[in-house]
Amino acid sequence: MNIVVIGGTGLIGRKVVKNLRARGHSVIAASPASGVNTITGEGLRDALVGANVVIDLSNSPSFEDQAVLEFFETSGRNLFAAEIEAGVQHHVALSIVGTDRLAQSGYFRGKIAQEKRIRESGVPYTIIQSTQFFEFLSGISQSGSEGKNVRIPSAFFQPISSDDVAAAVADFVVESPRNGVVEIAGPDRVRLAELVRRYLIATDDARNVIEDPQARYFGAELDDDTLVPRANARLGATHFDTWFAQSQAESQEKPQAKPQVAR
Ligand SMILES: NC(=O)c1ccc[n+]([C@@H]2O[C@H](COP(=O)([O-])OP(=O)(O)OC[C@H]3O[C@@H](n4cnc5c(N)ncnc54)[C@H](OP(=O)(O)O)[C@@H]3O)[C@@H](O)[C@H]2O)c1
Repeated sequence: MNIVVIGGTGLIGRKVVKNLRARGHSVIAASPASGVNTITGEGLRDALVGANVVIDLSNSPSFEDQAVLEFFETSGRNLFAAEIEAGVQHHVALSIVGTDRLAQSGYFRGKIAQEKRIRESGVPYTIIQSTQFFEFLSGISQSGSEGKNVRIPSAFFQPISSDDVAAAVADFVVESPRNGVVEIAGPDRVRLAELVRRYLIATDDARNVIEDPQARYFGAELDDDTLVPRANARLGATHFDTWFAQSQAESQEKPQAKPQVAR
């Protein structure tokens, strides 16, 4: 297959590109760094010539509410115009479990807009809603930071490793479009505050975690189950301890690696 990965240089994007190339597909890793920009349109039409599948793994460079909304609306508009012109047969996008339940959050309003545009595009599609990546634990702890404390909701979540996300995305890409949502998650359902506490201890971060049922998650109130998937989600195999050991080993090999702070 000829596959274009929008955001092919990101955390998930580069792993998906590697995975699909290893399976023998012809893959373009498209991003502003490679001259393809879904906001300005630069390089987009040329990149999509002959593409069977487009995978959107891009993310907004800014997490300010209005900027996120504008990113996903503009990007989607330009992307689908180019996809329809190129005759793309399958659009695959990565979204987040619980997106439709999180409209109080500016970031999630951007994801809701992204999903709406996909559904209305006319291009056959699969929306993969993933739970939070383990790599995002540092971002979650930063978001709740209050000096020496970190205030974290007590709700459940079921985080997944980026390698398991990339493998799942690569599998769904070669299947028929679902014209709907599929969910993926990690193997363990735990309380947010509990795992953030374990993460801070593992990273020698002395901050104290305050578990607060009223604390908001990027602006949104949570019920216990807002962030967890339904019963038929595809589950990754990697547990927190395994992921943490692997990520430590990788960061020692590549000390210049960019920290993951984006959702
Ligand atoms: N973090 C989580 O826990 C989580 C959970 C579920 C789903 N998700 C979703 O997963 C997706 C990917 O996240 P990620 O963490 O892999 O992202 P990331 O590492 O921040 O990478 C973002 C990618 O988007 C590209 N990009 C930015 N502006 C662009 C533009 N104008 N045109 C084309 N590409 C552009 C970047 O390219 P450059 O490198 O060239 O700037 C980069 O390749 C996001 O949509 C996010 O909502 C995240």
